[in-house]
Amino acid sequence: MSYNEEIEAESFHARRIKLHSAEDFVGMRVVGQLAARALDMLASVIKPGITTLEIDRLCFEFALDHGALPACLNYRGYRHTVCTSVNHVVCHGIPGDRVLREGDIVNVDVTYILNGWHGDTNRMYYVGDVPRKAQRLCEVTYEAMMRGIAEVKPGATLGDIGAAIQEFAEGERCSVVREFCGHGVGKIFHDVPNVLHYGRRGQGAVLREGMFFTIEPMINLGKPGVKVLSDGWTAVTRDRSLSAQFEHSIGVTATGYEIFTTSPAGHACPPYAP
Ligand code: MF3
Ligand code: CO
Ligand code: CO
Repeated sequence: MSYNEEIEAESFHARRIKLHSAEDFVGMRVVGQLAARALDMLASVIKPGITTLEIDRLCFEFALDHGALPACLNYRGYRHTVCTSVNHVVCHGIPGDRVLREGDIVNVDVTYILNGWHGDTNRMYYVGDVPRKAQRLCEVTYEAMMRGIAEVKPGATLGDIGAAIQEFAEGERCSVVREFCGHGVGKIFHDVPNVLHYGRRGQGAVLREGMFFTIEPMINLGKPGVKVLSDGWTAVTRDRSLSAQFEHSIGVTATGYEIFTTSPAGHACPPYAP
């Protein structure tokens, strides 16, 4: 594409991204906080011996107890409330009778719907004591997400977010998964734009006040390649290296960003204080 065609394509794309009102921010704040509270609740229950299905049940009941709907349940045929991705599972791990063992790392990804708004967030958890290399991966992944978020303000581009994440993760000798990305979020679960976790500064759609999207980098200790298992959901690293992810739903404000899914309990990155 020529430079002009590229600009036109980008601005066309940017125009399709919804711009939300102050009232819409309230809706996202409410559902985002509820999803974050579900993840807070898990901090004290994820330990050796719990199954991923028990984690799923707790998050299902938490939704119903608070008048929310689990967005993933029946989404494209998915049968659970959360995704539980253990060790070399990159994302979309299906809850089941797997018993978590000392030394595992697990990501729990929850999306609730309240008043039509979607709150989508995930965090890593340590199961008992975990090896130092696994801890380091979780720390790098959390910091990568936060560096991506720090780029967000009107006039910045999606490429600025991806570049910040990629530069940091690769600088720490980790790799960025390419097959999955963040997404527009709001009344629709997965909306435009695609928010890539790699890229080049200045490229991609220009951010404007009122845009809502997720930033949810998946970072591997080994090579970036992934494959999806025959269940059609579970994505794993091809080299079976450990993978981690964190996710926040955010809104672009006049001067920067608002994180809708910040932990009310102050649980950012493990280990989570009791
Ligand atoms: N919550 C995931 C995301 O961050 C989507 C999970 S879709 C499911 O976009 F169907 F697998 F649950
Ligand atoms: Co998401
Ligand atoms: Co999610």
